[in-house]
Amino acid sequence: KSMSKPESAKGIGVSKPFTPKSNAFWWPDQLDLSALRDHDRRSNPYGEGFDYAEAFNQLDLEQVMTDVDALLTDSQDWWPADWGNYGPFFIRLSWHSAGTYRTLDGRGGGEGAQMRFDPLNSWPDNGNLDKAKRLLWPVKQKYGRALSWGDLMILAGTVGMKNMGFDIYGFAGGRTDDWEPDMVYWGPEVEMLASDREERDGKLQRPLGATHMGLIYVNPEGPKGKPDPMGSAKNIRTAFSRMAMNDEETVALIAGGHTFGKMHGAHKAGECLDVEPGAAAVEEQGLGWKNKCGKGNAEDTVTSGLEGAWTQAPTRWTTLYLSNLLNNEWEQTRSPGGAIIWVPKDKAMHEAVPDAHVKGKKNPPVMTTADLALKYDPEYRKIAERFLANPDAYQQAFAKAWFKLTHRDMGPRDRYLGNQVPDEKFLWQDPVQEIDYDLVTPSQVETLKAAILDTDVSVATLVKAAWGAAASFRASDMRGGATGGRIRLEPQVSWEVNDPAELNKVLAALEKVRSNFNSKAGDTQISMADIVVLGGAAAIEKAAADAGYDITVPFTPGRADATAAQTDVESFALLEPSADAFRNYFNQDTSYRGPADMLVDKADQLNLTVPEMTALVGGLRVLGANTGGSEHGVFTDNPGQLSNDFFVNLVDMGVKWRKTDDASVYEGLNRETGEVLYTATPVDLIFGSNSELRAVTEVYAYDGAEEQFVNDFVDAWTKVMLLDRFDLRHDLNAS
Ligand code: HEM
Repeated sequence: KSMSKPESAKGIGVSKPFTPKSNAFWWPDQLDLSALRDHDRRSNPYGEGFDYAEAFNQLDLEQVMTDVDALLTDSQDWWPADWGNYGPFFIRLSWHSAGTYRTLDGRGGGEGAQMRFDPLNSWPDNGNLDKAKRLLWPVKQKYGRALSWGDLMILAGTVGMKNMGFDIYGFAGGRTDDWEPDMVYWGPEVEMLASDREERDGKLQRPLGATHMGLIYVNPEGPKGKPDPMGSAKNIRTAFSRMAMNDEETVALIAGGHTFGKMHGAHKAGECLDVEPGAAAVEEQGLGWKNKCGKGNAEDTVTSGLEGAWTQAPTRWTTLYLSNLLNNEWEQTRSPGGAIIWVPKDKAMHEAVPDAHVKGKKNPPVMTTADLALKYDPEYRKIAERFLANPDAYQQAFAKAWFKLTHRDMGPRDRYLGNQVPDEKFLWQDPVQEIDYDLVTPSQVETLKAAILDTDVSVATLVKAAWGAAASFRASDMRGGATGGRIRLEPQVSWEVNDPAELNKVLAALEKVRSNFNSKAGDTQISMADIVVLGGAAAIEKAAADAGYDITVPFTPGRADATAAQTDVESFALLEPSADAFRNYFNQDTSYRGPADMLVDKADQLNLTVPEMTALVGGLRVLGANTGGSEHGVFTDNPGQLSNDFFVNLVDMGVKWRKTDDASVYEGLNRETGEVLYTATPVDLIFGSNSELRAVTEVYAYDGAEEQFVNDFVDAWTKVMLLDRFDLRHDLNAS
C-alpha cells in the first residue's frame, strides 16, 4: 500500500505528526528553489579536498575486475545465485542503474549512484536489486572511496558479461557518488506502475523517457499490461529513442541482455512479498521485498512476477535468444506469479532449460510481450534475422551498444578514467579536435581583448555569444558548453535563443580577429571556442569600466574546436533551450514548465547557487543580453554598463507593477505620475516577489553593494564559462 500516494497526500510529511509543513504544502504554486541547494558539499563525508579521479587512478582496475569476477560465482546462502552465477543479476543492476538516463534533459543514469537512494532504490522495476548491491559490498568495502558505487554498479554487469564469455568493449570509471536523492521529475502518476503520460498528440510527455512510473523503460507484459507485441514495439521504440538508441542498438540490447539470466515470479507477489526498502522496518536494515513464500529466495524468488529464462544456457553468451525467438511459435500463458509470459507452442521445447536451482527440473524457454516485439515489428525483425545470420555483427553491435548505454551520461571522454577505456571515439561522446598548438599567453590575451573591442560589435552581442556557447552546458549529462566552439555550427548557430543573424555577425568579427592573430602567432593559436569566451570577458571588463570598476575577468584558454563532422546534429538539437531566463527567453510551445520553474531548471543545469543565479540575471539584464534585444527587465538608464541597477530599481517602492494584456509581460509605473518606466517578464519580477529571492535581491540593492555585485557577477560568469572544463577539474557532480 505504500507504493501509491493519494492526491491529497502530495505535500511533504503531512501524514506524520509533529512534522513541519513546508511552504510547498501551504502554497504549492510557490517557486521551489531546492534544486539549487541540493548536493551540498557538507553532505559529502569525503570532505572538500577529495578528488575521485586521483583516488581511482591509484586503483589496480584489473585486480578490481578479478575481485568482482570471483564474487560472481561465490554463491551466498542468503541469496543463492541462479545457476551458480550472479552475472545476469549484475547485468540487470548495471542496466537499471544506467537506464534511467533520458536524452531530453540529460537526467538519470548511472552517475551519482542514485540507485542507492529512494525513489529508485524502491522502484518496483528495481525489485531485489537491493540484494545485488549487498552482494557487491565486499568489493566496495575493500576499495572504499577509490571505487564509487556508480562505477562499481556499471562494472559489475560488465565483468559479469565477460565472465559468461562475452567480449566486452571496455569500461571507463569516473562516476562520482551523490549523497542524497536527486529530485527528478519521473512522471505525473501518484501510483507506481501507473502510466498516464501521453500528451494530446499521443506522444510520451516530455522530458520523460520511460512509459510507466517506477519502470526503467516499458512494461514487459505489454502496454499498460496488455499482451500486444506491436503496441509494445511502439512503446519500446519511443522509450529507447528517448535514450538515444536506434533500432539496431535497441535489438542488440534487448536480445543481448536477455541472452543472460531469468525472470523471477515463482509466486504471486501480493501473497508473498513485504514492502519495498523505502517502507521497510528498521530491522530490515535497508532491504525490502521480504519474501515469506517457500525459501524466500532461490527457486521461490519473486521479482517481476514473470518467470523463466530466455535461453537453454543462461550463463553463457550465445545466439540462442535470437534462434529461440525467431524459430519458435509462441503462445501466451501465465507465470506462477500470474504475469503474462509466452512459451513455445512446440512441447518438445518445454524441457529445454535446466532449472536455476532444482536439480533435474527442466523448464521451457520464455519470452515477454516486449521480447516478442522484436519478432513482430518488421524493422526489429529484419535486424534480429541479420544478427542471427551474422553472430560477429551481433556481438559487436551489443558490445558497442552496452558501452554506450553505460557511459553516455558521463559526458566527454575527458571524464573517463582507467586503463580499460576503448580507443575508438564515438559521435555520441561529442568529440573535439586535439590541441596540437601552444595556448595564448596572458599578454597575448590582452592584445586579443583589445582587438576584439576594436571591432564594431557591441558589449551585449559579445556577452550573448559567450553566454550562448557556455550556457548550453547541462550538468545532468555534462553535454554542451563552450568547448568545441559548436556555437558556430549547426544546429546551435541557428537556435532562436541565440539570435542567429546577430550571432553570425559577432562570429565573423571574432573569426577575423582570430585569423589575424593566428596567422602571425606561429605555434601559438587560439580556437574559436576560446575566442568566443574571451569576447565575453573583454565585453564585461568594458561594461564594468564604463560603470567605474576596473576589473579583470579571468580567462583560461584551452578549449578545442569541433568540426561539423564531429557534431551529431540530431543529438545536439536536444540541447536547444526551450527557455533561458538569463536571456529572458521563453518558448511557450516547447517549455514543459512555467517561466520561473524553467529559470530554476536552467540554473540547476548550470550548477548555480541561488545568489549566483540572482547575480547573473541582474547583470545580464543591464548588459542588454536579452534574446531579440527585448527591453524586459532592463531596469537601468545605462544599458551596457555593469551596475546593480536591476536590483535597486526592482525593490524601489516608487515603482508599481501591473499585468498587461499580454500575460507574459508586466509594466512598472511611476507610482505618482503613472508613467511607464519599465517592462518585465515573470522571471524578472520573481526576484522581487519570491521571498527567498527577494532576500538576495536586497543584498545587491544595498547602498554600497555595487562593487560586491560586480565581483559576484564576474565569479558566477567565470564559473559558467568553465563548467565544461573537465581538463581543469574532475569533481563536478551531476546535480
Ligand atoms: C531481466 C524486462 C531490457 C537485461 C528482466 C526481467 C524483466 C525484464 C521483466 C525479469 C526480472 C526478474 O523478475 O528478475 C525488460 C524489458 C526490457 C528489458 C521490458 C526493454 C524492453 C533489457 C536490457 C538489458 C536487460 C536492455 C541489458 C542489456 C536483463 C537481464 C535480466 C533481465 C540480464 C536477468 C536478470 C537475472 O537473471 O536476475 N528484464 N528488460 N534487459 N533483463 Fe531485461
